[in-house]
Amino acid sequence: MDKMIIQGGERLIGEIQIGGAKNAALPLFMASLLTEEPVHLHNVPALRDVDTVEKLLTNMDITVKRGGRDAEVQAKALDTIEAPYDLVRTMRASVLVMGPLLARAHEAKVSLPGGCAIGTRPINLHLDGFAALGAEIDLEHGYVHARAGKLRGTTIDLPIPTVTGTENLMMAAALAEGVTVIENAAREPEVVELGNFINQMGGRISGLGTKTLIIEGVNALHGAEYTIMPDRVEAATYMVAAGMTRGNLLLKGARPEHLKAVIDKLMEAGMEIKAENGGLRCLLIGPIKSVDAKTLPYPGFPTDVQAQLMAMMSFANGLSVISESVFENRFMHVSELKRMGADIQVEGHSAIIRGKESLSGAPVMATDLRASASLVLAGLAAHGTTEISRIYHLDRGYERMDEKLRAVGAKIERVKS
Ligand code: UD1
Repeated sequence: MDKMIIQGGERLIGEIQIGGAKNAALPLFMASLLTEEPVHLHNVPALRDVDTVEKLLTNMDITVKRGGRDAEVQAKALDTIEAPYDLVRTMRASVLVMGPLLARAHEAKVSLPGGCAIGTRPINLHLDGFAALGAEIDLEHGYVHARAGKLRGTTIDLPIPTVTGTENLMMAAALAEGVTVIENAAREPEVVELGNFINQMGGRISGLGTKTLIIEGVNALHGAEYTIMPDRVEAATYMVAAGMTRGNLLLKGARPEHLKAVIDKLMEAGMEIKAENGGLRCLLIGPIKSVDAKTLPYPGFPTDVQAQLMAMMSFANGLSVISESVFENRFMHVSELKRMGADIQVEGHSAIIRGKESLSGAPVMATDLRASASLVLAGLAAHGTTEISRIYHLDRGYERMDEKLRAVGAKIERVKS
């Protein structure tokens, strides 16, 4: 298993190209199953989760060709309708295969994801939605088996604006008979991206980016070509890196309109952030000011940036309170940050962070994707050496992170162990 070794204390200066968004790429690959025609995707990030989705689809005898940042997917027939445990276990987003399979093959068998490092994360809302569209759902031997004739449009009122739930139901409804209305839908840019993609395939989805999605089912969808949006969480992570190292980074491709809550929060913490040349210029002169934050569904402060902000607040001037309201158990990074000397106390869904002038490098362990990113950030700003093990978590969602950081001055190395 590879490790990341960081010598902290270097200011990061230069440019970083932001890659294609993981959370947009995954649903777009899945939506390619909605048509028998080829679909072409561009700006596909080189991530482990994208390899997993490729594995999942090729397992189902679907043709996936990848070359550099391009991919072609063609699902001529859908004879295999199963997503096995070993793939769903490594990537929960595998459950996104269910909507398209139900819509086109009228059957799907998907392993239940079970728990994960950030909580129980059930998929009950996906299943309730499929049932409302007319599917029969059985749970057997750890698998969800869903069967349906032609799905029928209906109104689905989501109690929580679940992101992948909205995406799964949107894909299923795209080929249903009649109109489906999803109330309290997720408004994340990746959901909008998926909707735009389906519309480009001939779908009829309106209300994207609002709480009410209206999906007029069509009989068939056709092939399409689409360029995946830049990853807003990768961008946010490097924004924080610029702040924590008192650096100056131009994040090429980062879209300010997707990052408003993060930009506002980091500016409150003392950073200067402005749009420049189709990207974002991010720097910090002076101290890191303590700020409070609460994670919320989009357009609120993203839960996927909570751990990174906490790493930054560990170096702030004063006390900050960060509350997690999207997931029940997303403070796995706290104990590792504490090993580096951070002063953090967790009380229920909140963490109280007393900022320190500096932390000291230490051996730490990555536990999930964004928690791992927070450890890299802490390592970059700490004094001494930080050794992060289990970095396969990072590879799920950050493309060549060590190379990108090295190119802007970080002393970071990936070693095989
Ligand atoms: C997606 C993102 C993930 C991000 C999260 C929240 C992808 C591939 N992943 O995950 O990076 O952190 O959104 O922005 O896009 N819930 C239920 N029942 C359900 C579904 C969800 O109770 O059927 C709960 C979850 O446990 C959680 C909350 O709803 O507490 C939000 O989760 P959700 O939006 O579904 O997250 P994901 O789509 O899994």
